Amino acid sequence: MKTIIGNWKMQVGVRESVALARASLLLLRGKKHVPNFVICPPFVALSEVRKVVARSALHLGAQNISWEEQGAMTGEISARMLTEVGVTHVIIGHSERRQKLNETDTMIHGKIVKTLEHQMIPIVCVGESAEDRKQGKTKKVISTQLTNVFNSVRLRSKDQLIIAYEPIWAIGTGETPTVTEVKEVHSHIREILDLAFPNTAKERIQILYGGSVKKENAYAFLRESEIDGVLVGGSSVKINQLTDIVDAAIQVLEAQSI
Ligand code: PGA
Repeated sequence: MKTIIGNWKMQVGVRESVALARASLLLLRGKKHVPNFVICPPFVALSEVRKVVARSALHLGAQNISWEEQGAMTGEISARMLTEVGVTHVIIGHSERRQKLNETDTMIHGKIVKTLEHQMIPIVCVGESAEDRKQGKTKKVISTQLTNVFNSVRLRSKDQLIIAYEPIWAIGTGETPTVTEVKEVHSHIREILDLAFPNTAKERIQILYGGSVKKENAYAFLRESEIDGVLVGGSSVKINQLTDIVDAAIQVLEAQSI
């Protein structure tokens, strides 16, 4: 299976989100092999977008969640609020939130626990900075992030996880690591998760690549068996870009089914 996640960030309002959701839905229409496709609109658009994607193959994701169940948390959104509007996936620990809003591994851990508790799928972002990379610390930084955020997390038999490897220096910059570099980091992530969650079927933990994914490079990432999909930011709100990225996934799935 291949997964495509569209992270619409703070780029679109309610009306644009509905239009984008309709356009995204059309990309899957009539296709025999479709990727697991998750769209993550801003919170205010979730209810309206839900009406568009209801009873379709498109999944609805949120861009954040509170680690608390309920209470005096001005401006926060709880797991229950998200499930109420049909959310099945939640992006957690995006580097923009880690850097600009001081999110810590402890907060991210709490959000993962809450998401799983409410039977949603966490999309956990990890990745190194340009400086970490220069100093050859990529794998070490990622191991630390994973160990901290999954500390004492237990997966129940139906739980699923998505990890997005997103090098900070590749987000929104047009730069990407090579496919070989991504594969190397993905195997490292897989090893750590195998240790953290032994006896968990491989399919229940997907590892995606994110950072400047666009129509020109999507196929190269998607065709690799070690790369379970892509997390797309900027290109997910541009329908011509998104069309080619989804087509690349369909092409890979069709080739696999032969
Ligand atoms: P980008 O963003 O595709 O615009 O680089 C990816 C992300 O932040 O998830």
